[in-house]
Amino acid sequence: METASEVDYGYLRQLVFGLSQNVLDPSRDYLFETRLSRLLRNRGMTHLEELVQHLRIRKDPALERSIAEAMTINETSFFRDCRPFELLRTELLPPLIEARRPMRSLRFWSAACSTGQEAFSLGMLLREHFPLLADWSIRIEGTDICGEVVEQARAGRYHRIEMNRGLPARFVVRFFDHVGEDWIVKPEVRKMCNFRQANLCGPVLPFNRSDDRFDVIFLRNVMLYFSQETRRALLAGIHRLLAPDGILFLGSSEQPADPSIWTSVLAGGTCHFKPRRPS
Ligand SMILES: C[S@@+](CC[C@H](N)C(=O)[O-])C[C@H]1O[C@@H](n2cnc3c(N)ncnc32)[C@H](O)[C@@H]1O
Repeated sequence: METASEVDYGYLRQLVFGLSQNVLDPSRDYLFETRLSRLLRNRGMTHLEELVQHLRIRKDPALERSIAEAMTINETSFFRDCRPFELLRTELLPPLIEARRPMRSLRFWSAACSTGQEAFSLGMLLREHFPLLADWSIRIEGTDICGEVVEQARAGRYHRIEMNRGLPARFVVRFFDHVGEDWIVKPEVRKMCNFRQANLCGPVLPFNRSDDRFDVIFLRNVMLYFSQETRRALLAGIHRLLAPDGILFLGSSEQPADPSIWTSVLAGGTCHFKPRRPS
């Protein structure tokens, strides 16, 4: 396929940034060709130039959103970077559960959940290791900007290749039904999880009621595509949504943009963050 011009790539990069705040490096412009090829075909177009020309002539918000979504990087796996899960199991959840005993409720958020493995990993961990929570109100929210991945998360359906990444064999047997080439998460875990499409960088966060509070938030491997300003604004919002004794996990190479509002704790070979209250 013919490659597009600098100006067209620049237009597309700007469009993606405007909608998802993802900063795409020009050295990876080739990704537009591969990621948008299906979208071009579906629209009867053969070149990126045609797409850009179409968008310059007339505003097409649905098409613009599809482009931003197609450019997201959705890499994930069950129990990815297993240490946060291990630390939750051994050290962080027991005291948190103790503290929530009066309300018998816990709330988790997998922000940028991709195809759902992070949320389901939490669900399986809770079911497997904390049977006392069986009659508690446990909510695991999963949100992602990309509609296609949210659909897969809702279906809870995974191919053998996805199953072979990070999932202990006994979890496969206990928490999945085998259907043809695929595996489907059993209702026991699926009913704990709720997935929806949402932008972390829109004018308001996906959760914004004054009583919205999370005990544990996973915001992993998404901020690396954001500018420093976007990270700062997002983490200030996340700070407001986390319970005072709540826990934030970032990706292993990510740090809070404003360290003054977070206490970073090194434990179990990983780092997690506790909200610091203004003194
Ligand atoms: C690399 S995946 C990380 C998935 C999971 N958190 C993990 O660590 O395995 C990044 C996800 O962030 C999502 N994403 C990118 N920009 C976003 C935004 N502005 N709002 C919400 N989700 C976004 C992408 O669609 C993608 O599914």
